[in-house]
Amino acid sequence: MLTLGIETSCDETSAAVLADGHDVLANIISSQHSIHAAYGGVVPELACRSHTQNIRPVVEAALVQADVTLRDIDLIGVTQGPGLVGALLIGLSFAKSLAYGLGKPLVGVHHLDGHVSAIYLGDESVPCPFVALVVSGGHSDLYYCPQRGRYDVLGRTRDDAAGECFDKVAKMLSLGYPGGPVVNRLAEHGNPAAIHFPRAMQRRNNLDFSFSGVKAAVRSYLLDVSDLHGQRIFQDDSFWPLPDSPQWEQDRNDILASFQEAVVDALVSKTIRAVEQTKAEAIAVVGGVACNTVLRRRMALAGESLGLPVLFPPPILCTDNAAMIAAAAAFRYEACRELYQYPAFLDLDACPNLGISETVSVST
Ligand code: KG4
Ligand code: ZN
Repeated sequence: MLTLGIETSCDETSAAVLADGHDVLANIISSQHSIHAAYGGVVPELACRSHTQNIRPVVEAALVQADVTLRDIDLIGVTQGPGLVGALLIGLSFAKSLAYGLGKPLVGVHHLDGHVSAIYLGDESVPCPFVALVVSGGHSDLYYCPQRGRYDVLGRTRDDAAGECFDKVAKMLSLGYPGGPVVNRLAEHGNPAAIHFPRAMQRRNNLDFSFSGVKAAVRSYLLDVSDLHGQRIFQDDSFWPLPDSPQWEQDRNDILASFQEAVVDALVSKTIRAVEQTKAEAIAVVGGVACNTVLRRRMALAGESLGLPVLFPPPILCTDNAAMIAAAAAFRYEACRELYQYPAFLDLDACPNLGISETVSVST
């Protein structure tokens, strides 16, 4: 079975072709990072214009790379939500038109179901039950997954998502967008114990996160540092002009390493708490922030000490991509084919705030 996946929920236009629900034949990702970099975050209007221009060539490139034609496709999967409504609508309208024109079934996929499904790409033997930590630019969620495709929400962020926090701290230091990769790289040269930034809600017995406190702490630390350097210009959420000295570079890297340490500490400790509470047999870490090398290392160590496997998709399947959407679509289609045929899919609508518990429950 060949599945065409389409993802346009935020700032990546992506199309993928999967064989048998898990073999990636093509996964084309057209990133808009250079368009949004100047603004330090995604500008919805620009994202929509870019999706409109890119969707057709990206789908064509995926078909060419997979060496198949549209007629060979058995199923189409597309992100339905959550995400930017205009961006979602572009992928959804394109996918609906294709499904209608070709007479193929169409599955609307929850974006976070897609992120978790990335762990099944190339390897379907994932131990259940598992705890999934979904950390991206828009979400920091913990789920208990008793079986593939079922999500019981254990916790979520009460304010900023972890990735959003990386992006905002990077913006304060004019490091461009997205902030996660550059913070991760510079933090390698810093001391993670240099500054103690807060780890919110650690003593509470719940499994929620809060990252706005650490972001505010970095901001006020930077204001103090800027005073030290004899300047206090903090405009449009950026610290400017930046000092120009080797000592400042070291200070900046120490700040970033200490900030990253605080975020990783919170993510790892709550995930471990979730595993202990649920007696899960594995941990999955997915979403763009799962690319973070310190998070990967620390979570792998924590899993080792608990004797549990920790599953991370390869980095290219952690950030937004259509292969994960196709994997989720293929799984849901196999479980309940009649739900996704014409004309039922004509009612599919973009849902910018779609909840994970609104995904169709799958029993296998
Ligand atoms: O999953 P994703 O591509 O998009 C959303 O669904 O939001 O995640 C993007 C987020 C951005 O906030 C980006 O800064 C963050 O993932 N990210 C990272 C790293 N690579 C990407 N955060 C920390 N460390 C990284 N290496
Ligand atoms: Zn995502």
